[in-house]
Amino acid sequence: MRSGCGFSVWPRQTRHWLGATVLSVLLTGTALAADRTELGEGLYREHCVFCHGENGKGYASDAAPALGGQDFLVTVNDAFLTRSIAVGRPGTWMAPYAKRHGGQLDDDEIGALVAFIRGWQREASVALELSADPVVGDPAAARRPYAKLCAPCHGLRGQGQTALSLNNPEYLAAVWDNQIRWAIVHGRRGTPMPGYGATLSATEIDNLVALIRTWQR
Ligand code: HEC
Ligand code: HEC
Repeated sequence: MRSGCGFSVWPRQTRHWLGATVLSVLLTGTALAADRTELGEGLYREHCVFCHGENGKGYASDAAPALGGQDFLVTVNDAFLTRSIAVGRPGTWMAPYAKRHGGQLDDDEIGALVAFIRGWQREASVALELSADPVVGDPAAARRPYAKLCAPCHGLRGQGQTALSLNNPEYLAAVWDNQIRWAIVHGRRGTPMPGYGATLSATEIDNLVALIRTWQR
């Protein structure tokens, strides 16, 4: 008997059976994943594409962000996507899609949409490296820079303008300070959102995050 390989101590029949089972589980898994992506793609075409655009490039309708943008996808986890789709962003064009919130989709369909959207991601996630700790800053000190730099796109109180809102209760409940901070530092390539990491100091950016957080009710 060869040593070092537990598999070989089992009778040949069992080994064949095990091999076949493992193979069929793998194949079924792949087929299920493919089915799920297909379901997600169909739902995206039916419910989302006319605002969020082909391949999630965004802005097919005003202010609907680029869900396929790498800078967006690397900073959000699946829970954030699931919640954004399920609950929507009350008071904006982004409606709730979960049945329990008055929408049309069940949890499985929302899961398939999340998997489909995640399929656009090509760069490594940073979501796990972002701390959930609060960012400490001085909101009052950020008022003027915000009004000058950010308000033309996001509105003076973050209510949204040409770009999406930043004061939405659902957004602020779901997002971490460090995700907001990352967006301000890096911007969103391929969208109008510039990165401020090279032009503002760390403190100025912390202050902006603190100001945005004061809009949470
Ligand atoms: C009528 C246009 C419209 C449709 C249809 C729509 N959305 Fe949105 N969506 C928006 C807008 C506008 C926002 C930004 C809302 C705001 O200002 O906070 C948004 C926000 C989002 C966000 C949060 C993005 C972020 O940066 O925080 C996700 C995720 C999202 N939508 C996914 C979807 C999915 C998936 C569908 C289809 C099931 C969908 N949306 C359908 C307009 C739409
Ligand atoms: C020229 C317009 C423009 C300016 C100026 C601008 N933004 Fe943005 N911002 C956008 C757009 C458009 C997006 C959404 C990009 C996308 O599709 O992912 C965005 C996204 C964001 C997000 C991420 C929101 C989310 O859903 O995750 C934050 C936070 C943000 N901006 C903060 C700021 C702050 C703070 C400033 C000023 C220092 C600023 N922005 C200036 C257009 C702008």
